[in-house]
Amino acid sequence: MSRGQCPFDPPPELARLQTEAPVSRVRLWDGSTPWLVTRYEDVRAVLADPRISADSDRPGYPHVTPASAARRKRAKAFISQDDPEHAARRRLLTGDFMVRRMEALRPRIQHIVDELIDAMLAGPKPADLVEAFALPVPSLVICELLGVPYADRAFFHRASRTVIARDTTSEQAVAATEQLLDYLADLVRAKEKDPGEDLLSRLAAGQLRTGAMTAEEIAAMGQLLLIAGHETTANMIALGTVALLENPAQLAEIRDTGDPKVIANAVEELLRYLNITHSGRRRVATADLEIGGQLIRRGEGVIAAGDIANRDDSAFPEPDRLDIGRKARHHVAFGYGVHQCLGQPLARIELQVVYGTLYRRLPGLSLAVPLADLPFKHDMIVYGVHELPVTW
Ligand code: HEM
Repeated sequence: MSRGQCPFDPPPELARLQTEAPVSRVRLWDGSTPWLVTRYEDVRAVLADPRISADSDRPGYPHVTPASAARRKRAKAFISQDDPEHAARRRLLTGDFMVRRMEALRPRIQHIVDELIDAMLAGPKPADLVEAFALPVPSLVICELLGVPYADRAFFHRASRTVIARDTTSEQAVAATEQLLDYLADLVRAKEKDPGEDLLSRLAAGQLRTGAMTAEEIAAMGQLLLIAGHETTANMIALGTVALLENPAQLAEIRDTGDPKVIANAVEELLRYLNITHSGRRRVATADLEIGGQLIRRGEGVIAAGDIANRDDSAFPEPDRLDIGRKARHHVAFGYGVHQCLGQPLARIELQVVYGTLYRRLPGLSLAVPLADLPFKHDMIVYGVHELPVTW
């Protein structure tokens, strides 16, 4: 996103493509020219098409940065695989992230949220909402779920920041990835000997002991879950709060409602409106096919731009307006098709608990700096704010 425009909108030059050239070539850092798909229906068609591959090793795959190209080679998880391999690995985890299992976590998530707010209330003002709240909530939850010691968060937050920063070199990305993989593989081996009640222990017992997966393969899966499980939700908490502070009437509605459905609906609209995974879903065609009337040839890269698709007025009337009352659940902020976000039931509950609690307990919440001074994440492949100074 370029600076100076509304910090919640996709770049105007890309948004314009949606009406003028909805499937068009763009030039990437390596000189390659994949297709950028921007209409809602076309994005869903791309993501649902079995002739479109998510395999990051295929020639023509449009890597976001040189670092992400180098890193994916080293640690390939099922997000970068196609079926049937993708489905076989994903299936090992579907039980862990079922809505019912996640609902059972709601009281624990509420407790985590309340404790962090207690600590904020007891501490100095202003505070950085990212450091004090937005990052700890999903980090604590995913650590408990996976069985990763929360005490090691400084290490994995740093590694995670390195892999999603746009200016990370390939060497830095591979080094951070390897450190994280080594750390997780050691943890998995330790859990095989001394299991706990957590997901990595279950994989150590079911996959490592039987020889179905190596500790390194489980570590790559753990790395995907650990990074996807905290970065995205943390950015949604912080950026969602900024968006609501800029729309005080809607913030007041969330704060004052006693109806969980109003909050659940607001979560969907904020996911749609902010669509923090700004770099699009990256894919490559494995056969000649047509998307939106455009011929895409086998081997050509495709970027399905969810952030722009979520602002398509054929799917969402007045799409550039935040409207927490609208029906937005058909958004593509969690992707679409077989790779649709596995953690979405968890992310939804985390965000429902956060938005339903934070503004009620801190009714005077406000920015401690002007909006224009906030450090928006123009330099990361997942959007948000680096810091969010607030008072109350
Ligand atoms: C608000 C928070 C979140 C957002 C916006 C988000 C977004 C996404 C998107 C767009 C995809 C699709 C990737 C693609 O098609 O290439 C995805 C996949 C995935 N997400 Fe999330 N995610 C969030 C939270 C989480 C959480 C909490 C977890 C859990 C641990 C998680 C785990 C995953 C995994 C494992 C995949 C890969 C699924 C597959 O390839 O089959 N995500 N996410």
